[in-house]
Amino acid sequence: MKISKAEFARRRKNLMALMEPNSIAIVPSAREQQRSRDTQYPFRQDSDFHYLSGFDEPEAVLVLIPGRKHGQFVMFCRDSDPTMELWHGFRAGLEGVCDTHGADDAFPMGDIDDILPGLLEGRERVYYSMGRSVDFDQQIMSWVNQIRSKVSTGAVPPGEFTDLDHMLHDLRLVKSAAEIRLLRRAGEITSAAHIRAMQQCKPGVYEYQLEAELLHEFARSGARFPAYSSIVGSGANACTLHYLANKDRMSDGDLVLIDAGCEFEYYAADVTRTFPVNGRFNPQQRAIYELVLKAQLAAIAEIAPGKHWNQAHDATLKVITRGLVDLGLLKGRVSSLIKAEAYRDFYMHRAGHWLGLDVHDVGDYRVAEEWRLLEPGMVMTVEPGIYISPHNKKVGKAWRGIGVRIEDDVVVTAEGCEVISSGVPKTVDEIEALMAGPGQ
Ligand code: GLY
Ligand code: MN
Ligand code: MN
Repeated sequence: MKISKAEFARRRKNLMALMEPNSIAIVPSAREQQRSRDTQYPFRQDSDFHYLSGFDEPEAVLVLIPGRKHGQFVMFCRDSDPTMELWHGFRAGLEGVCDTHGADDAFPMGDIDDILPGLLEGRERVYYSMGRSVDFDQQIMSWVNQIRSKVSTGAVPPGEFTDLDHMLHDLRLVKSAAEIRLLRRAGEITSAAHIRAMQQCKPGVYEYQLEAELLHEFARSGARFPAYSSIVGSGANACTLHYLANKDRMSDGDLVLIDAGCEFEYYAADVTRTFPVNGRFNPQQRAIYELVLKAQLAAIAEIAPGKHWNQAHDATLKVITRGLVDLGLLKGRVSSLIKAEAYRDFYMHRAGHWLGLDVHDVGDYRVAEEWRLLEPGMVMTVEPGIYISPHNKKVGKAWRGIGVRIEDDVVVTAEGCEVISSGVPKTVDEIEALMAGPGQ
């Protein structure tokens, strides 16, 4: 289950169709990052570079030149090197990049300073995402200056620089059938991991032990890495939105919030479930949980072609504000409270974000100052939450320190939407039934 060579070619073709005549696009690969002396973080290709090539090696630069006679897709990459490959593993080399990844022309990275200025020379427009890498920005400028220094001999420096992000990210925003299959698989693996964590949870277990269950389930299904650092926050830790320490022993009577998703073949899942450490919600926990769930379902009902991006978020604000008033946690008229953003003490983030190769995926949320209209193939999270600070003296003690988020991954379809992380229990009854059953 992978993206086909033909699909990568289609993506390049679609991008080149948007580029102006006599232009060039340049996309550098990600760099290896050192973790500690002589050790590296596992290499993960830059999402834009992957999207256009499927080539997952560092030290490479992808170049697209629509209409170029000698080939439109040029790749600079590492040469084959038997000694380095003996130590570090396979390199596609110049031939591999042409045969397997469809490059028309390939050159060794060591020759880029000699060759790239020649490719830039005389182009009217350069598409490049400036500002992501200081080193690469400088390299581009040095190539341009190399051309400028030869103006007296007739060399023509490139006319204009245009940010590549806007065009490329608009393409990435609408997912193909093959991408949706990978996202669905990431959702399935992630659902199995959340189920495993629920089954292994009981008072006295440490947060990092549940994290280990998640990672085990991801890796055994071929998703070796999470799409982002897993959050396992029990008790008041759930109220720290980016709690990553995952170090506490979980107590009887507390909830635990798990926000974790795998990355499968480069595509992310992003799923949150909140459940009682001992398997049974107490009345306050249940009331907050059911309110967040109601908000989440109301938001999912607002996802369909033609609806705009913010409708789902607006739905969560209405349900949560009304619910907090009904529970006595906020006082006043619902409409005035929404206007005054009174919910922000409890619900301080947005209801979701685009999802894809990046967990917070690319794509504009507004177009011409209007919220974007949803189209089939767009994929997003829906993740309202309520977090009652342990220090909130305005609410009764029984409510303090409760943090609940429920997050699912949703694909816009022709008719409405499909929840692709639905394999993991979500209602109070489903969660309590699962946790009452035998652990694994
Ligand atoms: N896990 C990051 C997020 O939910 O946005
Ligand atoms: Mn999340
Ligand atoms: Mn999210």
